[in-house]
Amino acid sequence: AHQWRGVIREYADRLPVTESTEVVTLGEGGTPLVRARALSELTGSEVYLKVEGMNPTGSFKDRGMTMAMTAAVAAGAKAVVCASTGNTSASAAAYATQAGITCAVLVPDGKISMGKLSQAIAHGAQLLQVNGNFDNCLDVARKLAEAYPVFLVNSVNPARLEGQKTAAFEVVDSLGDAPDYHLLPVGNAGNISAYWKGYKEYAAPYATADGELAPVATKTPVMWGFQAEGASPLVKGHPVTEPDTIATAIRIGNPASWDLAVAARDESGGLIEAVSDDEILEAHRWLSSREGVFVEPASAAGVAGLLKKHGEGLAPKGKTIVITVTGHGLKDPQWALRTADGSDVEPTKVEFDVVSVAAALGLEETA
Ligand code: F0G
Repeated sequence: AHQWRGVIREYADRLPVTESTEVVTLGEGGTPLVRARALSELTGSEVYLKVEGMNPTGSFKDRGMTMAMTAAVAAGAKAVVCASTGNTSASAAAYATQAGITCAVLVPDGKISMGKLSQAIAHGAQLLQVNGNFDNCLDVARKLAEAYPVFLVNSVNPARLEGQKTAAFEVVDSLGDAPDYHLLPVGNAGNISAYWKGYKEYAAPYATADGELAPVATKTPVMWGFQAEGASPLVKGHPVTEPDTIATAIRIGNPASWDLAVAARDESGGLIEAVSDDEILEAHRWLSSREGVFVEPASAAGVAGLLKKHGEGLAPKGKTIVITVTGHGLKDPQWALRTADGSDVEPTKVEFDVVSVAAALGLEETA
């Protein structure tokens, strides 16, 4: 049986690496493409979920981090830095540990989930809670990397998008061709840019050192990106100075990959729209309770977008739709313990006897 070797080794001929590259990997990628039964039934399309929470640190960031950390090692870096709403820092901390280099992370004070914070701490990152938002953190991280001996591993580093484009390759490799539509959450806008790059590269001849690779896909999908309403600069057309949403992972007011995301939208004939926090939480509950897929709130923005479009009668029918769900539900589990009306879920308590348990479950005795 084939053992998955991580995205760099699996897609080496389409990445800026050579045989002598010292690869830093935790075996990322190769994530499940799960058919979404309930969403398919609702929309009359074939809907699939690319479940990126199944990466080593629980989010899609690992695809880019294997490339960024490999580049850091190649550059002889002794330390890396990133700004993060949580997932990038968790990933950077883990991959830096694997690489044997130190890692500093700048996170917005009080606005990152416990799960992500614990990961960065567990992996020994130097974690600084910055009195500012993500955009402020990224600004400082960039300046730090310019003037001090630290290597920047945010997605402004092109190696990150190179790694992340492999998710599009995997989708095509699983389906046998590109889907008609690809939906995903948009925050700092690296991921939508990376998917679009990957889909374009797979639909055209690709020049490598050893010659030209034939196209793998016959087409590219229409890209639909979704931002949280309170943090939707790409929808508004200008930066947002005080971004706000419960989906802390995408609480970003001035995305670094702005132009690339707009190009992905326009070249694919797609759109970037906003979904409200309530719509995000509804999609989060839909995924947990109807598809069996547990994600963190931001990860549900793409599904929220499809549900919203369906509500408006504008969801594609009879098409193949892939939605990336970007991070694992265990990153930020508190949202599962809250009902739709905002009250806390209280587990039912019982005595340790079978009659009490059966009664609590509403079961009638059969024998
Ligand atoms: N979903 C999750 C779970 C994320 O963590 C992020 C970004 C996104 C979606 C948006 O992806 O930025 O490429 O448009 N998180 C970054 C971080 C900002 O620091 O972890 P994007």
